[in-house]
Order: sequence, then C-alpha cells, then structure tokens
Amino acid sequence: MEGKVALVTGLTGQDGSYLTELLLSKGYDVYGLVRRLSSPSTTNIKHLLSEVNFIQGDLIDQSSLDNAIYSCKPDEVYNLAAQSFVGTSWEQPVLTGEVNAIGVTRLLEAIRKNKKDAKFYQASSSEMFGKVVEMPQTEKTPFYPRSPYGISKVYSYYYTVNYRESYDMFCSNGILFNHESPRRGIEFVTRKITDSVAKISLGLASELRLGNLDAKRDWGFAGDYVKAMWMMLQHDKPDDFVIATGETHSVREFVELAFSEVGLDYKDYVVVDPKFFRPAEVNILLGDYGKAKNLLKWEPEVSFKELISMMVKSDLDKNDVR
Ligand code: NAP
Ligand code: GDD
Repeated sequence: MEGKVALVTGLTGQDGSYLTELLLSKGYDVYGLVRRLSSPSTTNIKHLLSEVNFIQGDLIDQSSLDNAIYSCKPDEVYNLAAQSFVGTSWEQPVLTGEVNAIGVTRLLEAIRKNKKDAKFYQASSSEMFGKVVEMPQTEKTPFYPRSPYGISKVYSYYYTVNYRESYDMFCSNGILFNHESPRRGIEFVTRKITDSVAKISLGLASELRLGNLDAKRDWGFAGDYVKAMWMMLQHDKPDDFVIATGETHSVREFVELAFSEVGLDYKDYVVVDPKFFRPAEVNILLGDYGKAKNLLKWEPEVSFKELISMMVKSDLDKNDVR
C-alpha cells in the first residue's frame, strides 16, 4: 500500500473526511480537491489539515480538474464532490446538473487525458432508484429517479460505465444507500433530528419541525461505507456495487428512537410542517448488498440503533456548552 497516491474530491464533506482517515491509515499520500470559499469549510477535517495535500479546484472548472490530475498523478480518484442535498436540487436544478452530472464528465476527461490508468470511484446513489420498481433494490434494478439530484446521479452513473466500456478505464460506481454519522450535514433528516433532540433535552429548543414522517430509508454508518469505496478500487476488475444494510426504517421510527435516547416522547415535540414536504417523494428504499458481500467481503458493522445512539451522544456533547 505504501506510496500510493489518492485524489479525493469532496474531502471536506462527511464521507470525504472518513475516507481520508482510512486512506491515511493505509499509508496513502492523500490529495484533496477543495473549492475556494470565503470561509473555508474545515469542520470535518480540522484534525487532518496537516496530513493532506490540498489542490484548489471545482467540478465546474475543467482547467482546475486537468491541473489536479496532471499535478498529483493519482493511482486512485474518489469522486465524492456533489451538491448532495436532494431538497436543494429543486431550488438549484441547473447547478445540481453542472456539478453532479457534467462535473463527472469533466473529471473523467481530465483522467483520460492526464492519467488514464488511475482507478476511478463514482459516488452513485440509491436516489437513482427513486420510485422503486422492485424490492429490495440490487445492481440490476432499473432506475426511476424522482428529483433533479437523482437524475444528475443517473447521468454520472452511466458516464462512469461508459468510460469503462469505451476506454477500458478502471471506473466503478458505488450505489450507496443513505449513510449517516455525527459529521452528517445539519439539513439531512437524521442529523436534524439528533441535533434537535440534544437541544430539546438541554432546554435550548422546544420543538422539531419535520416533513414526511412515513418516508422509509435504508440507513447505515458512513464509517462502514467508506471502507466499501476503497474495497471497490482494490477489486480485480471495475464494477458497480450496492452498499446498504438490508433494513428499512421510517423517519418516524428514527425520531422515536432518538427521543427515547434522552428519555422523551417524540409526540410531545415533533410538529409536521408541509414546508418540508418534497415535490416528488422517494417513499421507500431498501438495498440488497449481496454482491458486495460475496465479491468484496464487505458487510455493515454499525446497527440502526447504535447509529442513532452515536449521533445523539455526539450532538449532546456539541450542544452542551456548560
Ligand atoms: P457532503 O457532506 O454534502 O459533501 C459534499 C462535498 O462536495 C463537500 O466536500 C463539498 O465541498 C463538495 N462540493 C460541492 N460542490 C462542489 C464543487 N462544485 N466542486 C468541488 N467540490 C464540491 O456529502 P456526503 O454525504 O459526504 O456524500 C458524498 C458523496 O456521496 C456525494 O456525491 C453524495 O451525493 C453521494 N452520496 C451520499 C450518500 C449519503 O447518504 N451520504 C448516499 C449516496 C451517495 P464544500 O465543503 O466546499 O461545500
Ligand atoms: N432533510 C429533511 N428534512 N428530510 C425530511 C424532513 C426534514 O425536515 N422530514 C422528513 N424528511 C424525509 C425526506 O422527505 C426524505 O424522504 C427522508 O426524510 C430523507 O431525507 P434526507 O435526510 O434529506 O436524505 P435523502 O434520502 O433525501 O438523500 C440522502 O440520501 C441519498 C441516498 O439515498 C442524501 O445523502 C443524498 O446525497 C444521497 O444520495
């Protein structure tokens, strides 16, 4: 493993921070593509700043991607950068397409021209299954995306497949179902819930406003899922893999368990607010990770209950300023 070079896009995000920790622990020289922001977004990577080589760039800017690949000559590229919030994809559909769809074409072109033998991981998503046509969803399930975000991820999924087939490049899609952690962005439902539970329990808030409590998701732990990304690029050939837990739970169940962690009943605090309903909802997702289990020997380790407990504890610590 010693001496391998990895380029990670989206390094400042939830998955980027866990993946970087994993790669550093395996002896990789890690380069991170980061955007120039007026206030750098380093919350998730404060502890890694001195260990990573930063390259300024943006998935919207071809020249910065060409430069990134040319300058670090990576053995492996993990493309985690995205406008990743489904809700925002209706507010900013063009930006979502520019970054999540065309951005992947730009990055694949940069690799093809500057380091064609680099292995490429694309952060594909269970949102591509959208209005699901079968249960559970596997690598063979047809896509039916329900949001600009889901559509952008279908586009980039097929680009990744196409570069594998057209140019014989090592390009793999991880079709990851929802995965969460204490580093999850605050607008995603799980973190919004655990942060509010902590605030309510500490007397800092009195209610939690949510949208559709009946939506069901297959939720796992981000720390487990980044291991699967790495395993896909160590596999003997490029391929596409579903990464999931094989369990589905409703938002209501998540809320109920999160409040019970602090001895409260969610019904006393949760208000359903139509403002958080989506124009088109993904009602249920449930993944079958059998292929990853067989070929990569990957399995999830953290249970649904353990995940909620971990996130509530972390938010209690973060909010408790006494
Ligand atoms: P996240 O926390 O929202 O991180 C997104 C990252 O993308 C951030 O580092 C962000 O940088 C960067 N980024 C956004 N726009 C960019 C641009 N134009 N150019 C360069 N970088 C840009 O997302 P995540 O949860 O870690 O997810 C990682 C990837 O997996 C995403 O592609 C997401 O769509 C996909 N995915 C996630 C899940 C999940 O459940 N978490 C499931 C399936 C797939 P800033 O810090 O500068 O904003
Ligand atoms: N965000 C949010 N806020 N979601 C809510 C709320 C709320 O107040 N109330 C109910 N929900 C419901 C949403 O309608 C959705 O059905 C579900 O909770 C999960 O929403 P998010 O946590 O925002 O995640 P997501 O499933 O839309 O998307 C995440 O998972 C995808 C993989 O399936 C993101 O991480 C995507 O980037 C990822 O690809």
